[in-house]
Amino acid sequence: MEGKRRNVLKGIFGATAAFFTAPIVYAVGRFISHIPDVKSGGSATLAASEVAPSKLIRVGEEPVVVIKEKDGDIRAFTATCTHLKCIVSYRPQTSDFFCKCHRGEYDTNGVNVPGTRPKRPLTELTVNKDGETLTISLTPLKPQNA
Ligand code: FES
Repeated sequence: MEGKRRNVLKGIFGATAAFFTAPIVYAVGRFISHIPDVKSGGSATLAASEVAPSKLIRVGEEPVVVIKEKDGDIRAFTATCTHLKCIVSYRPQTSDFFCKCHRGEYDTNGVNVPGTRPKRPLTELTVNKDGETLTISLTPLKPQNA
């Protein structure tokens, strides 16, 4: 009887401790994981003909979506959703980006659409074109936080 009561008290204590510490652990984890979207450095090459109208590639560890716009311009964006890190996809019909995890949306420039879950934009990356060869580098096209 005494052992059973002790186990019940341990269970209540454990649940109470978890209830109060879980938000702290979550907040610390979010703070620690809030690293810049893109680490500079690294590049990948592909043929321009492979981008029709978009292609998901990896540059190092970073998923990147390369898109061909209606006017033929080729642009590249980080493909990791800034909400909870699912992979976004490009929607050529509307020329925007969509994250199906929580219906996150980004406009044609990778800017998060207000009212959807993502609170930060995708990062546009530098694309160099040499003939048919594209070089996508993990260098933000514009300075971050500008
Ligand atoms: S992970 Fe993309 S909207 Fe939540």
